[in-house]
Amino acid sequence: MRLLVTGGAGYIGSVVTALLLDAGHDVTVLDDLSTGHQEAVPPAAAFVRGRVHEAIGDVLTPDFDGVLHFAAFIAAGESVQKPEKYWDNNAVGTLKLLDAMRAAGVRRLVFSSTANIYGDPDEVPIPETATVRPPNPYATSKLAADHALTGEAIGHGLSAVSLRYFNVVGALHREDGSMIGERHDPETHLIPIALQVAAGRREKLQLFGDDYDTPDGTNIRDYIHVADLGTAHLLALGTMDGPGHRIYNLGNGTGFSNRQVVDVVREVTGHPIPVEMAPRRPGDPAQLVASSDKAKRELGWRPQHVELATMVHDAWAFLRP
Ligand SMILES: NC(=O)c1ccc[n+]([C@@H]2O[C@H](COP(=O)([O-])OP(=O)(O)OC[C@H]3O[C@@H](n4cnc5c(N)ncnc54)[C@H](O)[C@@H]3O)[C@@H](O)[C@H]2O)c1
Repeated sequence: MRLLVTGGAGYIGSVVTALLLDAGHDVTVLDDLSTGHQEAVPPAAAFVRGRVHEAIGDVLTPDFDGVLHFAAFIAAGESVQKPEKYWDNNAVGTLKLLDAMRAAGVRRLVFSSTANIYGDPDEVPIPETATVRPPNPYATSKLAADHALTGEAIGHGLSAVSLRYFNVVGALHREDGSMIGERHDPETHLIPIALQVAAGRREKLQLFGDDYDTPDGTNIRDYIHVADLGTAHLLALGTMDGPGHRIYNLGNGTGFSNRQVVDVVREVTGHPIPVEMAPRRPGDPAQLVASSDKAKRELGWRPQHVELATMVHDAWAFLRP
């Protein structure tokens, strides 16, 4: 297929671009490099530097078979301070993309949704049918985009899949020995921050809140290896024939508390990782653990790297000095 990847210079988009190329697809990346890195884009992909809002109409020609839409701002904490920045980039950007897809007659879209939209869930593990309670503007902007896809499928025959990622971690090993991994700046995710401590780039790790209703009081999250996440995108593309919007949760169904994660990082790196407790952050749910039964059943998704130690090991192999 001829595919457009928005946000393909970012962490997950660059990994998926590599997997798409390996599978024989023809890939063009559109990225404004606002948070991404051009050197992360595999050389076999065509690269266009531009912002979705302004560039998409020129880039998306009718000969494309589909789009994978990763471009977004992702820092939930910052979104609480600057909701308008997140609504413009994540919600309005998706509307611009849908306009351009309609104009070009491109009908397949895989969208990066997020587990964050569930907020504090009624049931754990969380199925796709769970009530959504987006706890911050990042989550509301992503949920708005999800709803826009539903409308486009009903009104204009879009074939869309939203993949709701839980916490993504790890790096992709390439055949040539190189790796593609996570390089956010500033980094807001627990495991890469802990690894930065291990690498001597930070003195200590802050954990936000130890008074949650969880066994050790810290947040519980479900981690998924970026390579397994990437595979789900290829499987989703293979199932998009007719109009409709399907949603799949992607995680491993196992929750790790922040303290347990730090213990795994200590084991993998051999570094003590000093921890400082800090107050809760607004909009941080206590527990997010996925049920991915639907993805396994309907997409045939079979994650291969389910051990947290393996995910941390790969992230460390990418990041270590
Ligand atoms: N990282 C996670 O754990 C996680 C979890 C759930 C969902 N997601 C979703 O996955 C997607 C990718 O996340 P990531 O961790 O790779 O983030 P990232 O910041 O590494 O990548 C985003 C990329 O999009 C680009 N971009 C942003 N806005 C753009 C715009 N308007 N036009 C063109 N390019 C633009 C950035 O330059 C960057 O390269 C996001 O949509 C995010 O909401 C990520």
